[in-house]
Amino acid sequence: MIRIFATSLAAAAVLVACAPERQVSGRALYSDYCASCHGVGGTGDGPAAAGLGKAPADLTTIAARNGGSFPMVKVMSTIDGYTRRGDRASVMPELGIALQEGPLVMVDTGDGVVTPTPVNLVALAEYLKGLQR
Ligand code: HEC
Repeated sequence: MIRIFATSLAAAAVLVACAPERQVSGRALYSDYCASCHGVGGTGDGPAAAGLGKAPADLTTIAARNGGSFPMVKVMSTIDGYTRRGDRASVMPELGIALQEGPLVMVDTGDGVVTPTPVNLVALAEYLKGLQR
């Protein structure tokens, strides 16, 4: 019995070791691409914030400013740049191209419409969802 247990533990260890090296981490993407402006905690106090013509949004109050629900799709298209295309007043860079690397995942964008979406974009939006106060 003990031996079987030990064998399955070893098997589990091998499985863990074989897991893909590069896991998509919303937190890591956030610190690479967003924290400079939006701040480590998302409140808009990053080191680059002072030099912008416009204050970076407080990303911890998106749900609160949206009637209590987190607008997943809107947030993804804001990050991607899609909803801001041609908006010269927007100071935030369009990050869609930078985040395209990696597989596409199917996301239900509402009304039963399923859209292939870059996995990095989904991971970032999920991370922001977790920052809501
Ligand atoms: C160069 C600074 C800068 C960087 C880098 C940046 N942003 Fe922004 N962001 C802003 C500014 C400024 C705004 C305010 C609106 C505007 O100017 O478009 C904003 C607005 C937003 C909004 C809209 C918030 C709301 O209240 O609806 C979201 C969501 C957002 N940013 C997410 C991100 C994410 C995620 C990243 C990283 C992938 C990122 N931003 C990188 C400056 C930045």
